Amino acid sequence: MEIHEADLAPGGADEAEILAGLADDIWTEYYTPLIGAEQVAYMLVTIQSAEWIAQDIGQRGYRYWLAEDQGKPVAYCGAVVQMDRLFLSKLYVTHDYRGQGIGKQFVGIVEQWCREVGLPRIQLTVNKGNTDSIKAYEHLGFTIVDAIVTDIGGGFVMDDYVMDKPIGVSRPGDEVPA
Ligand SMILES: CC(C)(COP(=O)(O)OP(=O)(O)OC[C@H]1O[C@@H](n2cnc3c(N)ncnc32)[C@H](O)[C@@H]1OP(=O)(O)O)[C@@H](O)C(=O)NCCC(=O)NCCS
Repeated sequence: MEIHEADLAPGGADEAEILAGLADDIWTEYYTPLIGAEQVAYMLVTIQSAEWIAQDIGQRGYRYWLAEDQGKPVAYCGAVVQMDRLFLSKLYVTHDYRGQGIGKQFVGIVEQWCREVGLPRIQLTVNKGNTDSIKAYEHLGFTIVDAIVTDIGGGFVMDDYVMDKPIGVSRPGDEVPA
C-alpha cells in the first residue's frame, strides 16, 4: 500500500480526476442504502466532482491523500484548516480494503498535519445512520460532541454527528506551573 498527497496538473485536474472516480465508486456503493441514490448523485456532482476537488486543493486550502495498491487507487482522505480545528472532510476506503488499517494511517497523517499547524483538535461530521463508521472513528479516538443538520441545497440535508479528537499540542504559555 502506498499513500501520497494528491497533486494537481499545472492547469487543473490531474489526480483530482482519480479522487473523483474513487468518490463515485465508494459513495454510490456505500451511501445509496443510507441516504438514497438521488442525494448521492447530487452530492457527487456538487462536492466531489473533479472540478470541485481541484478547487478544494488549488483555492480552498484542502489537502487530499490517495492510497494505491500496486497502482490501483483504493482510498482517499481530505482535510482543511478551519478556525481552531483541523476538519477531516473526507475519509473513504473502497469496500474490499476496509478494516485493514488504511483509515488509521490516514488519520495518522492528518494528526501530524494538525500538530504541525499547532491546532488542538481534529473534527469531522458523519451521518447519524453511519453506525459502522462511527464505531471505526471511536476506535480511532474520536467522540461524538454535537449533532448538526446542514441544508446542502437541492432539497437535501445532511443529518450528522460532529466527532472530535483532541490532539496534544503544547504551545508557549500552556505550561502548567509545578
Ligand atoms: C470508516 C472507514 C474510513 C474506516 O477506515 P478503515 O480503513 O476501514 O479502518 P481501519 O481498518 O483503519 O480501522 C480503524 C479502527 O476502527 C476499527 N473498525 C473499523 N471498522 C469498524 C467497524 N465496522 N466496526 C467497529 N470497529 C471498526 C478497527 O478495528 C480499528 O480499530 P483498532 O485500531 O482499535 O484496531 C472505512 O471503513 C470506510 O471508508 N467506510 C465507508 C465510507 C465511510 O462511511 N466513510 C466515512 C465517512 S464520514
